Amino acid sequence: MAMSWSHTVLYVKDTEKMLDFYTRVMGFHITDRGMIGNRTSEIIFLSQDPNEHHQIGMLPVRKDVGASNSVAHIAFRIEGLTELRGLITALRGESIEMRPTSHGNTWSIYFQDPEQNGIEVFCDTPWHVSQPAGKLWDMDADDATLMAWTKQEFEGEPGFEARDAFHKRLAETLN
Ligand SMILES: [Fe+2]
Repeated sequence: MAMSWSHTVLYVKDTEKMLDFYTRVMGFHITDRGMIGNRTSEIIFLSQDPNEHHQIGMLPVRKDVGASNSVAHIAFRIEGLTELRGLITALRGESIEMRPTSHGNTWSIYFQDPEQNGIEVFCDTPWHVSQPAGKLWDMDADDATLMAWTKQEFEGEPGFEARDAFHKRLAETLN
């Protein structure tokens, strides 16, 4: 048995605002929408992975106010630093506060969507380091500076090694 992550379904209050954010800022496409079986609510499906019908579903039935309180965050991998910087620019344009954290194996940014769901978007670094680990990184540093900084900050930490070596061993463990 091997499970891989497919999707998250969120209860939402302001569907229009959430759809605008997830399509315009985050780059998702609406892949389907319609009333659910008992016709009490619509469900909207979004994806940007051709192999997933939906990565996010939205059910506009959320009644509570304030931040989501049972999910810490949902996380998306993005191809690389160029794409991550594109998102950072877009989020700055929306005045969305970000917390840039490198886990040694990622360059991550954490922020909240318009209904205060915690979101992480990250790209991989070339390294692995034992977790948890995290240091604030400079979202305005260029690639070379960031690579050098990350290596310097994490190479003394437990478990530091090349990403490929770690994942090769993990694959052997999990199989
Ligand atoms: Fe995470």
